[in-house]
Amino acid sequence: MKIKDWIFPEASEIDTLRDLKIIKEYLPKTGTILDAGGGIGRISIELAKLNYKIVLLDISKKALEIAKAESKKAKVYKKIEFVEGDVCDLSFKDNSFDMVLALRDVINYSVDAEKAVKELIRVLKNDCYLIASVANKTFWLTKEVESEKIKNIISTKKMLKESELKNLFKSLKIEKVVGSGFCSGNIQKENYLKNKENFIEIENIIGDDDEFKFACEYLVIIGKKV
Ligand SMILES: C[S@@+](CC[C@H](N)C(=O)[O-])C[C@H]1O[C@@H](n2cnc3c(N)ncnc32)[C@H](O)[C@@H]1O
Repeated sequence: MKIKDWIFPEASEIDTLRDLKIIKEYLPKTGTILDAGGGIGRISIELAKLNYKIVLLDISKKALEIAKAESKKAKVYKKIEFVEGDVCDLSFKDNSFDMVLALRDVINYSVDAEKAVKELIRVLKNDCYLIASVANKTFWLTKEVESEKIKNIISTKKMLKESELKNLFKSLKIEKVVGSGFCSGNIQKENYLKNKENFIEIENIIGDDDEFKFACEYLVIIGKKV
């Protein structure tokens, strides 16, 4: 899989509602939000609708083109600045953003996760939040049956367990680690979309529970720059 072509998040409506619920708890009152590796604008567009100024950065030209078209449809095109770039080498000045997001594998799939995290923290203002999500190693271990693949998951850096994720973000004051993607990771889409109200409630209960969260496809870390 070439990272540059990997632009379509398989996020469902429930995943997006879950991620927005997590983000909304930490949103600044006003200001500019960097959606790093923002892809086709799944989260940027929703936050632009709330009147935030958004910078959507992605390494993929194609993702940015789709994001532009989707933001026009949603009538928020003017609220989003689209930037082609690499999360490991950001062109923004230090302390530029009131919130930084890097959702769904942006960091763990970038060439150098440590460098990516350092860059994201550099451009975040003090006292502001960074929210990032990565593939949850513990979840994926339970989905595999071949011994070699299980061994690969144990050692890979493309997925992380909670302690590895916390270690990557250790220079932030970590508020919490929660889960996202319980429904999409475990239940047939047509089943959970039939009963959305109940499943979004389940998604939030499981994702917010410190032990149940490991059943979610993603771990989401929330940290403050101090
Ligand atoms: C699974 S998608 C997630 C998109 C979006 N964050 C979301 O949650 O809907 C991962 C995105 O990261 C982007 N990406 C991968 N490596 C990157 C890098 N080094 N710098 C910037 N973006 C990158 C990909 O192009 C893709 O759009």
